[in-house]
Amino acid sequence: MDITTLKKTVLDELAKCTTADAASDLELIYLGRNGRVNELLKGIKSLSLEEKKTAGKDINAFKAFVTEEVRRAKSELYAQEEQKIKVDVTLPPPLNKSGSLHPITIAVNEITGIFNKIGFIRMSYPEVDWEYYAFEVLNMPKTHAARDDFETTFLNGIPDKKMGKMVLTPHTSNGQVREMERLKSTPPIRMINIGKCYRPNWDATHTPMFHQFEGLCVDKGITIANLKGTLEYFVKSYFGENTEVRLRPHHFQFTEPSFEVDITCTMCKGSAVVEGKKCKICKSGWLELGGTGMVHPNVLKAGGIDPTIYSGWAFGFGIERVNMMKYGIDDIRNYYTGDIRFLNLF
Ligand code: PHE
Repeated sequence: MDITTLKKTVLDELAKCTTADAASDLELIYLGRNGRVNELLKGIKSLSLEEKKTAGKDINAFKAFVTEEVRRAKSELYAQEEQKIKVDVTLPPPLNKSGSLHPITIAVNEITGIFNKIGFIRMSYPEVDWEYYAFEVLNMPKTHAARDDFETTFLNGIPDKKMGKMVLTPHTSNGQVREMERLKSTPPIRMINIGKCYRPNWDATHTPMFHQFEGLCVDKGITIANLKGTLEYFVKSYFGENTEVRLRPHHFQFTEPSFEVDITCTMCKGSAVVEGKKCKICKSGWLELGGTGMVHPNVLKAGGIDPTIYSGWAFGFGIERVNMMKYGIDDIRNYYTGDIRFLNLF
């Protein structure tokens, strides 16, 4: 039995161990109950007394050698492993990627909150509605050219005698008479109707589906002054205290008089000049917000409300539009391409 060779074998095998576990396995192979060392000891039986003495000594020395070498190898390997899993506390923490609300949802919540504060109730009326609510009751009879303005998508199906065809509603104004009916034609009405609208356009400022919020206020003695005050309240709450509002004469079938609402440009603050150059966003200092006006008597009548007793105002603004104006976003399609880099900005 050549102890020197055996020792060398042990050292070679230990050197091949890359983990402390592997060194433990080797320990078992040599020092375990049925291990090599015990096998060697068993072999002594057949030797002479003299031989037994030296062999016994050698084997015990070998056992001590293996024990010590395994211990040393294991402690080195443990240290290496520990080094690998050590935490570097100076590294920045991994980013906690959490989901977030869509910018339109955030805007809907914000707008709802602004109008809730002054007693307006959030409503949702059908996206798929009858021509009756989308046009007829809004003083836009079947043959009226104004219906073309909205480029409506009609649905296949059997038209109803009174309601007409089904449409993807092109505006949230379909909620006006529905709200009057819900309240059994009894003002006061203070509604903020927020919903999806559909018009077949697709470019930097139009998507075929978009959102509008529609304000409707009907009571005794409601005037344009109330309308202007409410618009100013909204505009200053949403865009900031320094934003100004102006009304420009316009035409809608369902309001009389009608206006378009402009606000001072969020980029140049109404000066039309940015760094000595003409403001690229507005060119004039003003940006168009949307349509408004005093509810047309025919609309009140369609909702069962007497226009000689009550009056009201309504407006309809695009949510994407106001959000783009607020944050200086130049392409509406950003909202619907699902690009995480855009969504993460909110
Ligand atoms: N429905 C109009 C549109 O979509 C906006 C509007 C609403 C105008 C209410 C006046 C009153 O363009």
